[in-house]
Amino acid sequence: KAAMKPEFYRPQYHFSAPKNWINDPNGLIYYEGEYHLFYQHNPFDNVWGHMSWGHAVSKDLLHWQHLPLAIPEFTHPDGKTKTAIFSGSAVIDKGNQSGLCPDGTKDCMVAVYTGNVSVGEKQTAQYQNLAYSADKGRTWKQYDKNPVLDLKTKEFRDPNVFWYAPQKKWVMSSVKATEHRVAFFESKNLKDWKLMSHFGPQSDTTKVWECPALMSVPIENEPGKSKWVLFISAGHPQKGYVGMQYFVGDFDGTHFTLDKDNPKPIAPAVSNVVDYGKDYYAAIQYNNLPIQDKNPVMIGWLNNWEYGNKLPTTPFKGAMSLPRQIALKRTTDGLQLIQQPIGSSSSLRGKKIERQNIKLTNQILTLEKRIANSYEIEAEILPGTAKRVGIRLAKNGSEVTIIQYANGKLELDRRKSGQTDFSDRFPSVEQAPVKPQNGLIKLRIFVDKSVVEVFINDGERVITDLIFPNKSEGEIDLFTEEGSAEFKKITLWPLAS
Ligand code: FRU
Repeated sequence: KAAMKPEFYRPQYHFSAPKNWINDPNGLIYYEGEYHLFYQHNPFDNVWGHMSWGHAVSKDLLHWQHLPLAIPEFTHPDGKTKTAIFSGSAVIDKGNQSGLCPDGTKDCMVAVYTGNVSVGEKQTAQYQNLAYSADKGRTWKQYDKNPVLDLKTKEFRDPNVFWYAPQKKWVMSSVKATEHRVAFFESKNLKDWKLMSHFGPQSDTTKVWECPALMSVPIENEPGKSKWVLFISAGHPQKGYVGMQYFVGDFDGTHFTLDKDNPKPIAPAVSNVVDYGKDYYAAIQYNNLPIQDKNPVMIGWLNNWEYGNKLPTTPFKGAMSLPRQIALKRTTDGLQLIQQPIGSSSSLRGKKIERQNIKLTNQILTLEKRIANSYEIEAEILPGTAKRVGIRLAKNGSEVTIIQYANGKLELDRRKSGQTDFSDRFPSVEQAPVKPQNGLIKLRIFVDKSVVEVFINDGERVITDLIFPNKSEGEIDLFTEEGSAEFKKITLWPLAS
């Protein structure tokens, strides 16, 4: 196969690093008009390694300004031991109460991250460290008394810290990864941490547990009410892949307890799937959002450890999801997670193409003959009698990505989406159980070169997948098979950054 031109698959309105490998978003924090995005980064190569924190800032969660490497992997005085900067979070210590930053610093930005220590190839420790910045994240210093939390195990990571106002303290969730447990700690000063409780094992334990995130989430159809939601990155409904799950419950400052309304398991072993695609993982929430923003905002990494290092992109590898606003909704199945894209992507919309009341019976209708693979679609579908109804994207000859509703499921089929043979784990069909709302299936689809994010029924379900079409533009078709269905409304906007 001919090698693709560099930059060919570069997303246009999703974040990616200028070059080299990225994985998890880290230290998501809002401070003085800037949304910070730190991320797991290999500064030297386009595969995982030399983990360090890369850095970018944005004013609108859409346009990102790249900044120099924030926290690099470092070598110890013995010249042999190295600490890699694994995943973690960032907080604003108002008034520098911890005293970490120099005297007189107004607010101290503190990164709480996992130090992954190794000598040569051999991993020797994994514990929680601090680094701090007195200049809005531009320059960082390591705390000289690291680690601040060491359980003397090698599988203890991903500290996610937030301010728990009712008890005026910091709360940390972190994972005992191979025990499939989240451990909760408390601290008054970010330096001394005390174990409070554990959650798990629970639900999926086929993969290690990583990147916990605990937050209070408003219930959108019960004004004034909220519940606590615990996210973990773990297994996936399809065996062998990694994915995210969530748990709905209560948090009293010490314990997280599952709610009786926690949604019923959807797949036998994996309950409460966050994203039914293969490429949404390690998502965490923004800290310190402006007070009027009651809903959490999360960003996830668009890739899967099953094939992560093999993606056919250069000179970069990996991208971030659109920022998602998080809510809960009371449904007959219990409290359901709602995820909606935020950020001003609609400001990128070009001239729209809109059609209404299109009835199709065993038919294909071309919506657009040739469009660059960077667009947004909104569709309202009345499924009717059709066995399958949907949209074919990025179509060129036999190459196609299919989004269809069939048998009560929304599917994304990327088996013929373009380059798929870089890993035999890549070609796949994703399936999300979906119930029509007032008879309608509503889709909001974002296509961005190698990224497809599908928000179903106002964010009740999401499917996020990478694709690697061989052409940078393609056809978009509407279709029905074995019966009739109606597209009540379909709107297509090219998106240009
Ligand atoms: C999740 C993860 C984290 C770890 C980081 C290392 O993708 O495995 O558990 O901190 O990546 O890069």
